[in-house]
Amino acid sequence: MSLPSHVRLIEVGPRDGLQNEAQPISVEDKVQLVDALAAAGLGYIEVGSFVSPKWVPQMAGSAEVFARIQRKPGVVYGALAPNLRGFEDALAAGVKEVAVFAAASQAFSQRNINCSISESLERFVPIMDAAKQHGISVRGYVSCVLGCPYEGEVAPEQVAMVARELHDMGCYEVSLGDTIGTGTAGATRRMFEVVGAQVPREKLAGHFHDTYGQALANVYASLLEGIAVFDSSIAGLGGCPYAKGASGNVATEDVLYLLNGLGIHTGIDMDRLIDAGRQICNVLGRPSGSRVAKARNAS
Ligand code: HMG
Ligand code: MG
Repeated sequence: MSLPSHVRLIEVGPRDGLQNEAQPISVEDKVQLVDALAAAGLGYIEVGSFVSPKWVPQMAGSAEVFARIQRKPGVVYGALAPNLRGFEDALAAGVKEVAVFAAASQAFSQRNINCSISESLERFVPIMDAAKQHGISVRGYVSCVLGCPYEGEVAPEQVAMVARELHDMGCYEVSLGDTIGTGTAGATRRMFEVVGAQVPREKLAGHFHDTYGQALANVYASLLEGIAVFDSSIAGLGGCPYAKGASGNVATEDVLYLLNGLGIHTGIDMDRLIDAGRQICNVLGRPSGSRVAKARNAS
């Protein structure tokens, strides 16, 4: 299969990245990050989550962040909503696109959202109905597609079943998450082959954490499977509060470098992206998780 000529990058740093940070991060710093990412040319930025603040304290200020960002025309500013309450809060905050999140493993579903896979899918139905009424698009996530921190191996057929349910209930795209970053290029290809038989590939996205250093290879393997949408995180920020030891998402800068090298168009400006990463790393007081940013900032 030939590589896509254009790839859409979904920037999840302000959500998947920052949700895992224990230190308080001000609304102002979050707003500056989101605005810097939009200025770099990202077309979709996941800004925050409307989840229980007891479960994920760092996302508690998401409504305020939404109130203060400078919305750039053409950019989608998304948020996670685990239930109808979260959807309504997101709507009240002026969110135009939400994401629901399920898991391919029962144990992770229980730890992450306190319900079984089927209960979670049932919970999404009223969200889909309300979203339709309000003209809000809904993206779906499946976690643990290449392994679970509690159950170990996850069958691609199980991933396909959950992805298909999300697609059939109206999610316009389903992002398949290697939450713990243990997947390999071979496992990634096999997983997309199985899921791709159930859900059209143009409706699928890849979401790779880099715990085992395989994320970029997995992005490339996905490109070979005809996948043209990837979630990534500025400076490789992140992890998952319910997947101990999981490291950040693949760094946006590194994915962009890969895609630029393949001549694949994204519309993103590398220099501005690196500036956005430097800014948030200064706030967090830690070096970037992006190899490209490290190399560029050292030169
Ligand atoms: P629960 O405790 O079962 O819910 O949590 P509940 O309905 O019994 O409510 C308990 C309390 O939470 C109540 O408050 C509710 O009002 C409140 P209390 O009466 O105790 O004061 N509550 C809420 N508050 C704010 N916003 C809401 C909300 N809903 C209930 N929306 C729940 C169930 C789903 C709420 C909880 O488990 C939760 O918030 N989980 C979120 C976990 C999360 O955000 N995880 C990280 C994101 S997923 C991820 O990172 C993976 C991904 O990146 C892909 C990948 O890498 O694989 C997407
Ligand atoms: Mg994630």
